[in-house]
Amino acid sequence: MNKQESYKWASKRIRAQVQRHVDIVATCANTTAILKEYFEFFWVGFYFYRNEHLILGPFQGPPACVKLTLDKGVCAQAVKERKTILVPNVHDFPGHVACDERSNSEIVIPTFDSNGQIRAVLDIDSIHFDSFDDTDQNYLEQISGQLASIWNCASE
Ligand code: SME
Repeated sequence: MNKQESYKWASKRIRAQVQRHVDIVATCANTTAILKEYFEFFWVGFYFYRNEHLILGPFQGPPACVKLTLDKGVCAQAVKERKTILVPNVHDFPGHVACDERSNSEIVIPTFDSNGQIRAVLDIDSIHFDSFDDTDQNYLEQISGQLASIWNCASE
């Protein structure tokens, strides 16, 4: 399967998760599990945006930083700019937060609720340099958009 096909399948399966959504953690957990099934990402996970901080949510991969501040890092920049940040070489990114030294490139996609409020970021790390391109960005933004309705449910 090529990258587009993998994203299409992943996206279809994530849509099905959103349709039977009952709990934020459960839906986000399965979203990361589905992405990990289709791609050899080193780390894929959510950071929930709470009280001006980013708190580790469901993820697949090695243990990661539990709490991120908004003053530095790729995730923080995605929140502050409300847009996807694509980092071909994390070692060149000033203020990059290295939760695991093996990560070499990264993409962070903000996740908004139906009112346009930022609720989380989806963070994906690769051990390879320059792992992510426009195709990743487009599909991952679309997947992140599919999650919009889950944040407005009573379970959160
Ligand atoms: N590198 C991120 C921190 C989170 S880890 O990659 C899991 C950052 O700079 O915000």
